[in-house]
Amino acid sequence: MHDASWALAPDGTNPEIVAWVEQLAHLFTPDTVVWCDGSQRERDELNRKMVAQGTLVQLNPELRPYSFLARSHPADVARVESRTFICSEHEADAGPSNNWIAPDEMRATLGGLADGAMRGRTMYVLPFSMGPLDSPLSRFGVQVTDSPYVAVSTGIMTRLGAEALQRITPGTDWVRAVHTVGAPLAPGEVDVAWPSNETKYISHFPESREIWSYGSAYGGNALLAKKAFALRIASAMARDEGWLAEHMLLLKVTNPRGRVFHVAAAFPSACGKTNLAMLRPSIPGWEVETVGDDIAWLAPDAWGRLKAINPEAGFFGVAPGTGASTNQTAVDTLWGNTVFTNVALTDEGDVWWEGLTDTPPSHLTDWQGESWTPSADRPAAHPNSRFTVAAAQCPTMSDDWEDPAGVTIDAIIFGGRRATNVPLVVEARDWDHGVYLGATISSERTAAAEGTIGELRRDPFAMAPFCGYNMADHWQHWLNVGDQLRRSGRVPRIFQVNWFRKDDDGSFLWPGFSENSRVLAWILDRVNGAAPAVAGPLGWTPTADSLPLDGLELPDGAIDKLFAVDATAWTAELDDTERFFAGFGDRVPAKLKRQLAIAREHIAVV
Ligand code: GTP
Ligand code: MN
Ligand code: MN
Repeated sequence: MHDASWALAPDGTNPEIVAWVEQLAHLFTPDTVVWCDGSQRERDELNRKMVAQGTLVQLNPELRPYSFLARSHPADVARVESRTFICSEHEADAGPSNNWIAPDEMRATLGGLADGAMRGRTMYVLPFSMGPLDSPLSRFGVQVTDSPYVAVSTGIMTRLGAEALQRITPGTDWVRAVHTVGAPLAPGEVDVAWPSNETKYISHFPESREIWSYGSAYGGNALLAKKAFALRIASAMARDEGWLAEHMLLLKVTNPRGRVFHVAAAFPSACGKTNLAMLRPSIPGWEVETVGDDIAWLAPDAWGRLKAINPEAGFFGVAPGTGASTNQTAVDTLWGNTVFTNVALTDEGDVWWEGLTDTPPSHLTDWQGESWTPSADRPAAHPNSRFTVAAAQCPTMSDDWEDPAGVTIDAIIFGGRRATNVPLVVEARDWDHGVYLGATISSERTAAAEGTIGELRRDPFAMAPFCGYNMADHWQHWLNVGDQLRRSGRVPRIFQVNWFRKDDDGSFLWPGFSENSRVLAWILDRVNGAAPAVAGPLGWTPTADSLPLDGLELPDGAIDKLFAVDATAWTAELDDTERFFAGFGDRVPAKLKRQLAIAREHIAVV
């Protein structure tokens, strides 16, 4: 890396990209422009700079080699959904579940904010590929940012650098992503450890495939390759091009007879995707490997199979609750080369968070840099603290996770965090019923976004914060993809799961984590035609002995409670679904209204 002002683009760079960067540099007026090549040398230099600046604390290299802790501004700790906008030409195309501002108005606002916004800073240019470099399912993007934290994190989360840049030849589509922390420096002004701005805009222009993010350096708002591109913009691209961009983990599962399956599962944020993606089965003979933990791009192929890739190259995972008893695989993945954000620091220079070990160390420095002891009445790590680490470091990555052709999906799972009503597992009657289950996902709020924790929210397809167009159109798009798959006869089966149902005393009825392998086994035995099921009011559920429960100790009556269907509670739930659908007016597909009517008929006879 060099500090020459207005550094030249690498030889052979697509002139479209060069012109775009020049235009942005004139607007933002950074001191320097650096074209990132994704090399280790570059990463070293960025990390060194951030340690000197106080943005990063280097952890004890003997305990956590080449790893760093970032402490964010206390008001910049999660995605800001109230400041996230889908700026489609027509408001109806953004739909009622997104904030909308007309693109011209938003451009004017952002243009004003951008003027001189990088003064005193470096503008990093980050060219990257989402998905394996030469996969037909992959897409390219270029992000500019004035945050070295974002530059380093994007280097972990994507395939960033010279090889991606070379492939973005003239005529190749690429997504334009613009990011600034919105904190220009006056000459001589001393910078803070985590620059950001109280004013925040996370804006998406789906028609022109552009993203503008202002004022935040927190992952979900600033690592634009992830939620902004790979979900919001990509979902709009996918709608136009006939594929799906989804908030899903991807798994490879091998059954005791050696048959291989691939599963895609959508759960809302902080509801268990990373955990399931790294599952260690508790039942003998089954093997589970990781393909992806957060985002999947799925496309029907010429033979009508649903193929999927993980467009990311790393994990940006929730730290709290990640420990030996829940997710040993993640703990093993984090041995080194990791950037931690808003976790606690031990006196030995290592990291800690709630759930890493059963008992906390006797003294810590908390996520805000304050001294902390176990008697403190606040958590040591922020509830939405995260780790950023290369996927390749995960010991359970499957051999096909970077297959340019993608993996073939056999089963799709939808889930949420529900204390009541939703059973442990149900199989949809058919694709359209499955789409209805996806469209009606609800979940109790978590710390992954602002809002009151515990409150019930609808999170259709776990995409409520991530769909770049009208959510009801997304449902229709899923129905259309089903029609396309049906023509060739390779329709994946769809299931709904709920690990979070609670007993009257508030305790979880299901142990979860490794034991979820029992539910996976039933699901894949269903796919394989090997597990019986009963037709119930909500769909197909396991017969008394088809769910493998050997060796599992459950509280008395837990299984009955996990599958109980309360007609009164369900009638209220379906009333709520009807109100929820009504919010989308006449864009709700007729097939989904029909599914709701069928659901009512089934509940009426419970
Ligand atoms: P994002 O990365 O924000 O999209 O979230 P995620 O879906 O990857 O969530 P993650 O796997 O990080 O899980 C978040 C929380 O759910 C953690 O506190 C976990 O301990 C908890 N969790 C995950 N799986 C289970 C489970 O099977 N049972 C219970 N009770 N909790 C679980
Ligand atoms: Mn997520
Ligand atoms: Mn996750």
